[in-house]
Amino acid sequence: MTTLTTQPGTAVAHRLDEAVHLLPQTDQLRALHTIVRDRDARREDFVFYTGRIIRMLTEAALNLLPFEPHDVTTPVGRTYRGLRFADKLVGVPIVRAGESMEAELRAVVPGIRIGKILIQRDRTTKLPSLYYTAFPEDIATRQVLLLDPMLATGGTALAAIGTLLELGVPEQNIVFVTFITCPEGITAVRERHPGVRIVTSAIEERLNENAYMLPGIGDFGDRYFGTD
Ligand code: PRP
Ligand code: URA
Ligand code: MG
Repeated sequence: MTTLTTQPGTAVAHRLDEAVHLLPQTDQLRALHTIVRDRDARREDFVFYTGRIIRMLTEAALNLLPFEPHDVTTPVGRTYRGLRFADKLVGVPIVRAGESMEAELRAVVPGIRIGKILIQRDRTTKLPSLYYTAFPEDIATRQVLLLDPMLATGGTALAAIGTLLELGVPEQNIVFVTFITCPEGITAVRERHPGVRIVTSAIEERLNENAYMLPGIGDFGDRYFGTD
């Protein structure tokens, strides 16, 4: 899977395989990453500039959803043969760090339904525990944008995806939107759930012995919420 690692300075293909969608590695994106990966970044800069990238990820994820034809009449009386979302949507942030992605989704899809799933990784074993869920009752018929900025070992993502599948959501209806990931996390999700698509802004080299990504960004939740 090392071929999936982001190559600095290159315009990597948007679609690395049928399920992994990497944002174009533009200079602007790399400049934004440079700000937020800096260990000395101020918290307000971390929150603001991760928000910029999360907006890009949100737009890219929406591009993957199914659309259907929808015509409208323009003010000059002509028909515009347009499109609209074919299905209802729901955003599902994985609490806690996933909540950093909710505002950008709400900003581009006003009134979107939001489910919640609270999963925490044990600080020592790194194994995830599921504590709480709240979903729209018709979630099985919706396109699900599953939000978590970090896909590391994949344990949290697999627990969240498993919960959605138990509720009847098809794999093909799940788009996992993540700020950064790594080959280990991608492999874990791809092997168990090949129908789930992943949208990310960077693919790191690997995990370290504490299951943090390298070069990485540190603990996203702690940096975003100020609990470090
Ligand atoms: C972090 C991160 C992901 C998870 C990724 O959550 O937000 O949810 O780890 O790691 P994994 O792929 O190895 O499971 P964490 O439980 O540490 O806490 P937080 O969301 O409250 O910051
Ligand atoms: N969670 C984080 O916040 N960062 C990592 O690198 C891995 C898991
Ligand atoms: Mg988390």
